[in-house]
Amino acid sequence: MALERTLVLIKPDAMQRRLAGRILTRFEDRGLHVVGLRLLQVTPELSKEHYAEHVEKPFYPLLEEFITSGPVVAIALEGPEAISVVRGMMGSTNGRESAPGTIRGDFGLSRQMNLVHGSDGPDAATRELAIYFPDGLVEWSAPLGGTVCADDEK
Ligand code: RTP
Ligand code: MG
Repeated sequence: MALERTLVLIKPDAMQRRLAGRILTRFEDRGLHVVGLRLLQVTPELSKEHYAEHVEKPFYPLLEEFITSGPVVAIALEGPEAISVVRGMMGSTNGRESAPGTIRGDFGLSRQMNLVHGSDGPDAATRELAIYFPDGLVEWSAPLGGTVCADDEK
């Protein structure tokens, strides 16, 4: 097991619906540790950098239009196996196919307007954290409420 860091975006649809606090609370409740937090507007250039693997796909123009349509909250989260834990909490890409109990399964019905982004692997997490947090992350511990697993699980 490994202590990992991952990037989450609260997408413009979730911001429009004022769900940012509830979504962040889910990650905090699970025991994930916030080490970066920003409100920002994604530009077309940033969208192309973030979604480089999708730029040539037919759905990319609509994806760019959506992700640049309003501000997003970028969150860097740390925890044991944080990358797969966060992906599990998000649910499937298409909200209509997401399991109840996941963020997409509880709040959405759309494939595009699917509320959150999460890095899909270690390489993506490293790359995306550098894009959204170019000045680095905040190192801190939460000894009063931070125990989420035993030392040998980190
Ligand atoms: P994300 O990158 O945003 O966390 O979402 P994901 O891994 O679950 O899905 P991914 O395959 O990486 O797709 C990125 C975003 O593109 C939109 N999409 N549209 N029309 C389509 O076929 C289609 N496929 C994907 C979604 O907004 C998806 O979140
Ligand atoms: Mg993805």
